[in-house]
Amino acid sequence: MSEVPDIGRLISRILITVFTLALLAGVGGFYLLLYDEALRTAEREARIMLASANAVGNYTETHILPKLVGLPSHEFYQEMVPFYATQTVFRSVSGTAQLYTFRFPSMSPTNPNDRSEPFDIEVIRRFRDNPALDEATGVREAGTDKLFYLARSIRVTDTVCLECHSTSERAPAGMVARYGPNNGFGWQMGETVGAEMLTVPLTEPLRGTVRLVGILAAGLLAVFVVAYLALSAALDVMVARPLAELARAADGQSLSAAPSPRLPHSGVREIRLLGAAIERLRTSLDKALAALNAEARPEGKET
Ligand code: HEC
Repeated sequence: MSEVPDIGRLISRILITVFTLALLAGVGGFYLLLYDEALRTAEREARIMLASANAVGNYTETHILPKLVGLPSHEFYQEMVPFYATQTVFRSVSGTAQLYTFRFPSMSPTNPNDRSEPFDIEVIRRFRDNPALDEATGVREAGTDKLFYLARSIRVTDTVCLECHSTSERAPAGMVARYGPNNGFGWQMGETVGAEMLTVPLTEPLRGTVRLVGILAAGLLAVFVVAYLALSAALDVMVARPLAELARAADGQSLSAAPSPRLPHSGVREIRLLGAAIERLRTSLDKALAALNAEARPEGKET
């Protein structure tokens, strides 16, 4: 008998198991949903920024550049450079929020600031090895920060690019004077020369996700604890104790011949019905015993 748990313990085991599973599934599912949402928001933001930044570059390329390429070679203005315009505008938009960054890492950069980091090199290699691939997105770590990155390949698709990026002899003398004869040359038509790399901060949104998940977990836990206490107390008062009393009373009846006290009358409806049924059983048992005794008495008188 000892290995069979009593009803209270059984129900509490079931409740705790169900609550734990529900808590894990709820919190885990909610976290995944919110994480996904944070990434989506970051991606939306990144796409809008990239689109507006690129619009500036395209404007330079289609409207400004054709007018200025005919200038005497020593006259070089940075404003002619498509990527210069893009970066300048982006910098003033992102302001001091340094986690929003926009760079043009290149394998052989014109501006030393555009030298590629190991992460950029890996992305550019991916674009080089896979000409059909134009874009890469994902999450990367930068120190203690998490960043969402959106990278697009930069390929030389327009011969105008080669005006400045083929050889130092062909490039405007003013540009060579400024950037040196070794930087950003030797590019070929169709070559993947670098990438646009835009990052959007993710640390704060992800922290918000964890905060929300924490609030949900605490709320669920509070509901579970209250439900557990209320259910256990109700079970104890309405079922376990009345049943135990009933069992004790029925036990006392069968062990002694003395007329037993009235059966306890408490608990949920089913237990009351059970009590009443036992009461009736006892009454008919008493009657049967009385009849038996009456039959037995005459023989007892003879002896
Ligand atoms: C008028 C000359 C000129 C033209 C035309 C030009 N570029 Fe550049 N490009 C430059 C200069 C100068 C820089 C460095 C700008 C800076 O200081 O950030 C640069 C920067 C870049 C960069 C950033 C990496 C680096 O080298 O520093 C990429 C990528 C690039 N150019 C690709 C192109 C492509 C593709 C085209 C054609 C659509 C093009 N450029 C047209 C002069 C030019």
